[in-house]
Amino acid sequence: MSENYYDSERGLSEYLLFHYGAPEPLLPPGWVEAGALEFPARCVSQCLEAGRLPAQARALDLGCAVGRGSFELARHCVEVIGIDFSKQFIDLASRLRQCGSLRFRSFEEGELTRARRAVVPPEIDRRGVNFEVGDATQLRADLGKFDVVLAANLIDRLDAPLKCLERLPALLSPGGQLILASPYTWLANYTPRKNWLGGWTRGGQPVKTYDALRRILSPHFKLIRRLDLPFLLREHARKYQFGISETSVWVRR
Ligand SMILES: C[S@@+](CC[C@H](N)C(=O)[O-])C[C@H]1O[C@@H](n2cnc3c(N)ncnc32)[C@H](O)[C@@H]1O
Repeated sequence: MSENYYDSERGLSEYLLFHYGAPEPLLPPGWVEAGALEFPARCVSQCLEAGRLPAQARALDLGCAVGRGSFELARHCVEVIGIDFSKQFIDLASRLRQCGSLRFRSFEEGELTRARRAVVPPEIDRRGVNFEVGDATQLRADLGKFDVVLAANLIDRLDAPLKCLERLPALLSPGGQLILASPYTWLANYTPRKNWLGGWTRGGQPVKTYDALRRILSPHFKLIRRLDLPFLLREHARKYQFGISETSVWVRR
């Protein structure tokens, strides 16, 4: 995977399908039941405790890509900000916000592609959702406080994940929920090895990302849930990436 994969034609197409793909053409029978589809939607539906939210809740989706998680947060929050480093992703997410759908092509075999349509679930009110280009490790100072922060499959794609985690306490209101999902795929071309949160040994003992997250977040957050969320990213008609994100849900003290 090259450094600018998220800006490539293939990356854009794969993520539109990942966020908005319909089950039927995406998969052979059987996989739908495995619960691996609509990962960004499940990060919200399976992790957010909507009953804890205040009226007029605000949400932040860090590394939002083409926006499905942000739209799902809008089912529960009046204002949602989706931030991503990729201008192309943000342009597509903004078009979906404006139009509710867009046409794209998926990769099928070699140079063969297929026409598709990404559709935001029509019952979602898109008006409170806004997208902007930004760096999760250097967020603008005036974002304000949020009742939900979602960071799905983001931390292992940052050059300085600790910097992002250190900003989180200031972003969440007391009682606010932090949803952190990651397969912990640490790769030196995204994150210099010295910045990995886990995935190495110290004194012969394994250092695990989950333990690092608990150490970093526990002074400010109470861990309320930990679950495994499977996901399936389609590369082409006959090739998929299957992952399982460890997902932890935290409440700001
Ligand atoms: C693995 S994708 C996950 C996207 C989405 N959250 C999901 O679950 O489908 C990682 C995303 O993080 C974005 N990203 C990478 N570095 C970033 C940074 N420093 N700040 C914000 N977004 C970043 C990428 O552009 C990409 O959209």
